[in-house]
Amino acid sequence: MPSARIVIDRDFTIGPVPRRLFGSFVEHMGRCVYTGIYEPGHPEADERGFRQDVLKLVKELGPTVVRYPGGNFVSGYNWEDGVGPVEERPRRLDGAWHTVETNAFGLHEFVEWSKDADVEVMEAINLGTRGVDAAREIVEYANHPGGTALSDRRIANGAKAPFDIKLWCLGNELDGPWQIGHKTAEEYGRLAQEAGKAMRFVDPSIELVAVGSSNSGMPTFGSWEHTVLSHAYDEVDYMSMHAYYQEHDGDASSFLASAVDMDYFIESVVATCDAVRAKRKAKKYINLSFDEWNVWYQTGLETDDQPGAVSQSWREHPRLIEDTYNVTDAVVVGTLLNSLLRHGDRVSIANQAQLVNVIAPIRSEENGPAWKQTIFWPFARMAALARGEILRTATTSDKVSSKQFGDADQVDVSATFDEQNGRVALFLANRGLDGAADVTVALNGFVGGRVLRAELLEIPSGGTRLTANTLESQDALGLVPLDGVVVDGSTATLRLPALSWAVVEIEVSKG
Ligand code: AHR
Repeated sequence: MPSARIVIDRDFTIGPVPRRLFGSFVEHMGRCVYTGIYEPGHPEADERGFRQDVLKLVKELGPTVVRYPGGNFVSGYNWEDGVGPVEERPRRLDGAWHTVETNAFGLHEFVEWSKDADVEVMEAINLGTRGVDAAREIVEYANHPGGTALSDRRIANGAKAPFDIKLWCLGNELDGPWQIGHKTAEEYGRLAQEAGKAMRFVDPSIELVAVGSSNSGMPTFGSWEHTVLSHAYDEVDYMSMHAYYQEHDGDASSFLASAVDMDYFIESVVATCDAVRAKRKAKKYINLSFDEWNVWYQTGLETDDQPGAVSQSWREHPRLIEDTYNVTDAVVVGTLLNSLLRHGDRVSIANQAQLVNVIAPIRSEENGPAWKQTIFWPFARMAALARGEILRTATTSDKVSSKQFGDADQVDVSATFDEQNGRVALFLANRGLDGAADVTVALNGFVGGRVLRAELLEIPSGGTRLTANTLESQDALGLVPLDGVVVDGSTATLRLPALSWAVVEIEVSKG
């Protein structure tokens, strides 16, 4: 039987768990906002139109920070269209998603919703069609206490207290030819520098994310980051990254090894940021904001839900990329989360894209129910239980080989130590499609006590690796108990069924 030995040590920590690692993303795209988080008239909506059934699931999912309002959408968006009396807001064509944007939902509504959802706002600005002026104006509107035309306009629009938004994205995917206002690295680097400077003049406390490569396969990957930082190093705090993975042509082994690519991507961007740091003899580090990541079936599944289908007519909130996620997708998402957590010393922010309906852990139907997709579970458990310090994990595992990404550990893991509550949490995945894997965990420096939680996501009986939760069968897949976890002194043993994800929480004291 395949096996893995994992060693963790109380003294070998990577750093505190960055709580912003468990972020999500709400874009004005498809049905993420409209009929997702917001649907006036829905039986579960409150007087502001916020769907309480969706909000309840969002709270259970537990994102800590939510990026808004795009995405590709933001590169043609005028934030002013979304503030002020709703009946006076303009209807606009959104070229990014070939959609009619009603602007019924905007900045004030999102800030209100974020308070209800208990998440931090991460606001993206338009550096596609707009520039320095609009960049500084939105910061003044949102964050200045009052006594100026823009801040008084916010107050007149109903928000006396400043929104106090700390995290700002300086545009979105501007390296991509598909982006409205696509730029060269030189053009973008200078614009980000000047926009960032002007925004900080208004509010010096803000944190700024520079646009990085849209994915590691971009022809400009590496040189884009280098050039942008050679201009904007002093002005920005984070470099953004985006990556989406999918199964191609039934090659599940490669798909399951996607996190090997994520590791490589993260380590490459860290190296580029640090190369610029060395060249500039700078003290500060640029950390990473992995502000779009997920499984997304971009090819091979062309249906009415795919973006190609929307270019025929202009519609309000059409169904766009409403991927249905299966067991395999959930295991991959678990390993992607592991990769992010293992790099938590440099990845400070990460946003799963997106939150509702659009490649999302939560689905909802117009005038209908809301439910959890399979990928909900690894995110929800990790967001809740990854607390305290990230532990280094030394893993010796049997390998699974893959065409696309080479060999990967069959058992993938990340771990945290919550000293305050005396708990170690292990987040585990078995990438093996056929066999269970026996796992031994050496808890060096700890004495293990009770098993506080042991939960498993696996192929349900009678199901397959493609089993998913759907409108018709909303609870086909959930977490079940992981039986047989044994803790004996400083060793824990467990068995992971084929193609599974698990979380194990163990009470520990000092060894
Ligand atoms: O999340 C969907 C889209 O993917 C975003 O709008 C864009 O930034 C990315 O290409």
